[in-house]
Amino acid sequence: MPSSEKADQLRARKGCAPISALTAYDYPTARLLDEAGIDLLLVGDSLGMVVLGFPDTTHVTLDHMIHHTAAVARGAKNALILGDLPIHTYPDPATALVSASKLVDAGAEAVKLEGGVGQAEKVATIVEAGIPVIGHLGMLPQRVKEEGGYKKKGKTDDETQEILKGALALQAAGVSAIVLESVLPKATRLLTDHLDVPTIGIGCGQGNCDGEIAVITDIIGSYPWFVPPFATPRADVAGEITKAVKGYLDALTG
Ligand code: KIV
Repeated sequence: MPSSEKADQLRARKGCAPISALTAYDYPTARLLDEAGIDLLLVGDSLGMVVLGFPDTTHVTLDHMIHHTAAVARGAKNALILGDLPIHTYPDPATALVSASKLVDAGAEAVKLEGGVGQAEKVATIVEAGIPVIGHLGMLPQRVKEEGGYKKKGKTDDETQEILKGALALQAAGVSAIVLESVLPKATRLLTDHLDVPTIGIGCGQGNCDGEIAVITDIIGSYPWFVPPFATPRADVAGEITKAVKGYLDALTG
């Protein structure tokens, strides 16, 4: 199915069946998640932390994203493959389009970028070129240094209205959906109710968005050194790896 058709189908899910989304960074994980029936696989720049060992997403480059997007694209047949535009790769509309096109060449079927009103022209340029875009509002990990940490958003009416203004600008520019990160539940509900495009939440409280997204390592317990408070681990892959390796060592050493 052409990528724009997949993005249109995603957009049409507003208020219908909840959208399921997870991050994936490599071939086997993408294949397993795709075969399990996940709607959307995000090759997130969270790979900077949970795969590449950097302290935050600001170290991720377009080359990193291209490498991992290609691996995910080889593994997924049905899910929409969404590639994150990393920091510094979309400073203006023309550069944003070049970067988005490179992710598409690697196998992405849509791209995601962070921010609101200031990104609308970039979104419109990418969408007009035929590449679906998903927005990202609320807590913006690429701004962690300026913000001095990861802070909840939507704490005041002014802050909520600011996010809404950004969301409406992204919607008018043609996004297919908007990821909301770490927005307080009441503000999230207001945003979901005011928008025509689906919201996909992480850390916004269950059931306040049209879909949910999670970082795969949080769900399967494969990155035990940091698990966000809102995450629900459903497996202990780190524990299983340690157990298997200890068994392997024991068998070698007797
Ligand atoms: O990079 C990422 O994993 C993300 C999710 C937190 C939505 O952007």
